Amino acid sequence: MSQFETLKIEDRGPARILSISRPKALNALNPTVIAELSRAIEALGQQIEGGDWSIRGLILTGDHPKSFVAGADIASMADMDKDQAMEFASQGHAVGEMLANLPIPVIAAVNGFALGGGCELALACDFIIASEKAKFGQPEVKLGVIPGFGGTQRLSRRVGAARALELCVTGDMIRADEALRIGLVNRVVAPEALLDTCAGIVGMVAKMGPLAVKEAKRVIHQGAELPLPAANQIEVEAFAALFDTQDQSEGMRAFLDKREAEFSAK
Ligand code: CAA
Repeated sequence: MSQFETLKIEDRGPARILSISRPKALNALNPTVIAELSRAIEALGQQIEGGDWSIRGLILTGDHPKSFVAGADIASMADMDKDQAMEFASQGHAVGEMLANLPIPVIAAVNGFALGGGCELALACDFIIASEKAKFGQPEVKLGVIPGFGGTQRLSRRVGAARALELCVTGDMIRADEALRIGLVNRVVAPEALLDTCAGIVGMVAKMGPLAVKEAKRVIHQGAELPLPAANQIEVEAFAALFDTQDQSEGMRAFLDKREAEFSAK
């Protein structure tokens, strides 16, 4: 899979690890990285929709000792006009939507700076596991702009409008322990344990019913946009629909037979 200039891809058991690799710019997101991320995520989605469930979780990380992603690439943006900025922001948002639509969990393994577009990319993943060295921030105001890849919206939904606003208007950076305290990240682990922790989570997911995992993700994301009664209805329908699957019969039968379930994603 060396068809990428700015991404490294490694499969570790059922986990696919996508590492963003533009070391000279601390992995800043230029149009090439955005385009390559789109291609890599689309290919994975097609593989799974085609019936190949060998990959059960995607881990997004930064291939740099001190940076996950230091933001959108400022050199690429400096001379953009309004239309080009609109196009660039839309492409960034499209990557976020592709991650949300993948039928498997997506984990951001944040190993260092997650600033601007980097924090936004991490927020577009289903959850974030951070190294003790991670630093988060939305410093766009220092550049005379605001977050463009979903930061104002996803950050508010994750940590509340007041905390998001403070980060977005001060441009301040917070450390991993503070990110954990405000609920931006799920866990903080030692730097050397980061990928193993994320791969371990994917390993747990891999033992579960694939269609159930897919539906849990879909229902949580879709329900978050809706009033509670409508959201609960989506849950009821998805719960019932899973009773039409072989995985439901196998999962429940295996429990009753006191053996491990062998799911087939059917
Ligand atoms: N874009 C382009 N290049 C970047 C970059 C970025 N976002 N972040 C870092 N780099 C480059 C630096 O220019 C530098 O390149 P040179 O060696 O060629 O000079 C190299 O990466 C190393 O960076 P530093 O020397 O600055 O490293 P440092 O350790 O002193 O500082 C840092 C690290 C605090 C992350 C600092 O680089 C920094 O503040 N970067 C910019 C962060 C930022 O503003 N991000 C938001 C971008 S806007 C955005 O993301 C918009 C959006 O929402 C879509």
